[in-house]
Amino acid sequence: MLVNQGPAQLTAVDGPLDGLDGRHQHSFTSFAVVCITARDHTLPLRLNPNSSQENGRTVTTTTRITLAQRPTGLPDDSTWAVEKVELPGPAEGQVLVKVDHISLDPAMRGWLNDVRSYLPPVQIGDVMRATVTGTVVESRHRDFAVGDAVSGTLGATEYALSDGDDLQKIDTSVAAPATWLGALGMPGLTAYHGLHEVGEMTAGDTVVISAAAGAVGSVAGQLAKAKGCTVIGIAGGPDKCAWLTEIGFDAVIDYKSENVLKRLRQTAPDGIDIYFDNVGGDILDAALANLRRGARVVICGAISTYNDETLAPGPRRYMSLLVFRARMQGFLVFDYPDKDAAAIADMSALIGSGALVARETVVEGGVEDFGRTLLDLFEGRNTGKLVLKIA
Ligand SMILES: NC(=O)c1ccc[n+]([C@@H]2O[C@H](COP(=O)([O-])OP(=O)(O)OC[C@H]3O[C@@H](n4cnc5c(N)ncnc54)[C@H](OP(=O)(O)O)[C@@H]3O)[C@@H](O)[C@H]2O)c1
Repeated sequence: MLVNQGPAQLTAVDGPLDGLDGRHQHSFTSFAVVCITARDHTLPLRLNPNSSQENGRTVTTTTRITLAQRPTGLPDDSTWAVEKVELPGPAEGQVLVKVDHISLDPAMRGWLNDVRSYLPPVQIGDVMRATVTGTVVESRHRDFAVGDAVSGTLGATEYALSDGDDLQKIDTSVAAPATWLGALGMPGLTAYHGLHEVGEMTAGDTVVISAAAGAVGSVAGQLAKAKGCTVIGIAGGPDKCAWLTEIGFDAVIDYKSENVLKRLRQTAPDGIDIYFDNVGGDILDAALANLRRGARVVICGAISTYNDETLAPGPRRYMSLLVFRARMQGFLVFDYPDKDAAAIADMSALIGSGALVARETVVEGGVEDFGRTLLDLFEGRNTGKLVLKIA
């Protein structure tokens, strides 16, 4: 698909169940929009400063993060190993990509557990699974040229070889690479599909979103505003709440200092039509207690539980589903591949018009900072999409 809505007006960048099938693994980044830019096959291999010649072959040294041991609770230094390895030049049909941004996602915590989920767990010794953006620095693939900006699930690494199957071109004149990992990447699509396909959002709905200042939540809230809904965001701390007000949320609840149950009754006196749940736990219970008849509870994630060492008690107020003839449904971003292109086109247009503010928290460092940066998600240090910039 070709998306070219003109340069986006972006705000300042500050800065479960073993694999179901190979389809999900393969399609992890198939949502990324392919934006074809003019190719320049003449760009020199100098784009790869880590390369050297050995017996006439190019060898690239890369540092990468592998899983050293499975964590109990929060991951720490013992979870990760930092490896330095040499990659050969690309074989026929392959490209070598120099990574510039690594996405940090709450789901990564789940991928470290040896349990059945929607993707197979990362194995001990494997490079940590991560979606990245980068530049093709060597190509023996007919569809990719040196200099192409790309996105793909290449892992937490400085350089990676790819056969192109899991690689999408991105247009950095439409949006910065970090945005292709955020509002125009997997989190943006999660917000979009969650609201439209699962939440069946219609104008006039009262929509409540938790982790509202994060990558998924901030896009979801703005999409709901653009649709004509009343939007209530739940987030941690005054700075995040102030930002949500600035970008148009009708009401905000600081769950760290306010009683969420009471504040939901005040801010949504007629009840909630859509609760877009990113956190689970007590906040899910508070939302369940405030539903309107026919409500849709969209289970997107449950970050408050991801590091739990024992199973938390389930939602206590689930009988609200009966009382209010409501439904609660989980989903995965991969579930609507046929709708990804239209969703990205829609969100690109909203960014272009200023109706959707794409924000990223960009941490600058080296690939060895991956583990430390991942913890920022669980400490709420990010506003918008969290990425590690290693360029
Ligand atoms: N279903 C899918 O396909 C899909 C796809 C992508 C993401 N997700 C899920 O969507 C959710 C948001 O993901 P994201 O990438 O957008 O992350 P994010 O919201 O950008 O970052 C995580 C945020 O969660 C909040 N948080 C952390 N611990 C918390 C706790 N104990 N209680 C309440 N809030 C807590 C923090 O914000 P505060 O400072 O406000 O606490 C933090 O900034 C996650 O649950 C993720 O697993 C699901």
